[in-house]
Amino acid sequence: MDLSTRYMNLRLPHPLIAGASPLAEDLDTVRRVEDAGAAAIVMNSLFEEQIFIEQIMTHDHIDRIGDSFAEAASYLPDPAIFMRGPDQYLEQIAAIKGAVDIPVIASLNGTTPGGWLRHALLMEEAGADGLELNVYDLTSDPETSAQEIEERTLEMVRHLKAELRIPVAIKLSPFYTSLAHFARELERCGVDALVLFNRFYQPEIDPDSLSVDRTLQFSTPGELALRLRWIAIFSGRLQTSLGVTGGVHGANDAIKAVMAGAHGVQIVSALLKFGAEHLDKIRCGMIEWMEANEYESLTQMQGSMNLEHCPDPEAYERANYMRMLQGWSA
Ligand SMILES: Cc1cc2nc3c(=O)[nH]c(=O)nc-3n(C[C@H](O)[C@H](O)[C@H](O)COP(=O)(O)O)c2cc1C
Repeated sequence: MDLSTRYMNLRLPHPLIAGASPLAEDLDTVRRVEDAGAAAIVMNSLFEEQIFIEQIMTHDHIDRIGDSFAEAASYLPDPAIFMRGPDQYLEQIAAIKGAVDIPVIASLNGTTPGGWLRHALLMEEAGADGLELNVYDLTSDPETSAQEIEERTLEMVRHLKAELRIPVAIKLSPFYTSLAHFARELERCGVDALVLFNRFYQPEIDPDSLSVDRTLQFSTPGELALRLRWIAIFSGRLQTSLGVTGGVHGANDAIKAVMAGAHGVQIVSALLKFGAEHLDKIRCGMIEWMEANEYESLTQMQGSMNLEHCPDPEAYERANYMRMLQGWSA
C-alpha cells in the first residue's frame, strides 16, 4: 500500500508523525519512536519566554535595560519549569539528528515578532529539517484587536520564511474570528503547513480548596471532530499542506483525518498512553482498512471527504447546525 504523502514540503513514507511532546526529550524514546515507524518527529517547544529569560540573564544586557529588568522579570515564568534552555535545545536537535534518520521538526512557541525568532536560524543550523511555530496565545487584554493578533503572527511568518531554508509550519488555535481568511493570509506569506489545532488546557476550579487545578489531561478521540471540520474546509481551497493534531488515537481517526484532507497526522496522547509502538498499530490498521476498502494509495483517499468532494457539504457549515437543532426529538 502506498501511504506516501507530502507534508511541509517533506516527502514522507506515510502521514503518521509523533507530535510535539516529551517523546523527543530523551534519545532512547526518540529511537523507539523511529523503530515504531514514525514518519517524522516534532520536538517539544522552546518558548519565547525561555529565550527572553536567557537574554536578560546576561550581565551586559541587564546593565543596558537597568530598572526595567525587575519589571520584565516579574512577568516571566520561573526558568526551573523548563526542561532545557535555548543552548541545550540546539544540542538536543543535533543529538536527535545523530541518533535517528527520520526528519526532525523543531518547535518554537511564541506570540510576538522580535529578536527571539533569530533562534529559528540556529535551529536550522543545528540540523532541524523543519520548524513548527506554535502561536498559542490567550489574549485577555481588551485593548488588543483581532487584527493586531493576526498581524503579529503574519509578521513572524514573513520573518521566518525570509530567514530560513527549511519548511515552516504554523500550529494554530481554532479561536480566530475568520479562520479561513487568516489561513489564506498565512498561505500568502508562504507557510508550508498549517497544523490544526492547539489544545487549550483549561484550568479547573476546586471549590473546596479554592485553588485552580492545572493537571494536564490527555486528549480524547472526540476532540478530532473540530479538526476534521476545518481540515475539510481548507482542503481543496488552500495549496499549503495540512497537519492534524488533537484526538488521533487509532487507525480510524487517522483515516478520517486523511479523508478530510490531512497530509500529516500528528499523534501525542495515544503514544504517551500506550507507548511509541502504538504508532505502528495505527499504520497497520490503516493499511488493513484501506486494503479491505480497495484503496491503492493514500493520495486516492486524501481529501475525498473534504468540503468539495463530500456528498453532503452542508454538514461542515451553518446549515448543519440548524438541521441538528431543529431535527432533534426526544
Ligand atoms: C505532555 C505533553 C506535552 C506537550 N508539549 C508540547 C509542546 O512543547 N509544544 C507543542 O506545540 N505542543 C505540545 N503538546 C501538544 C501536542 O503536540 C498535541 O498538539 C496535543 O497533545 C494534541 O494531540 P493529541 O490528541 O495527539 O495528544 C504537548 C502535549 C502533551 C500531552
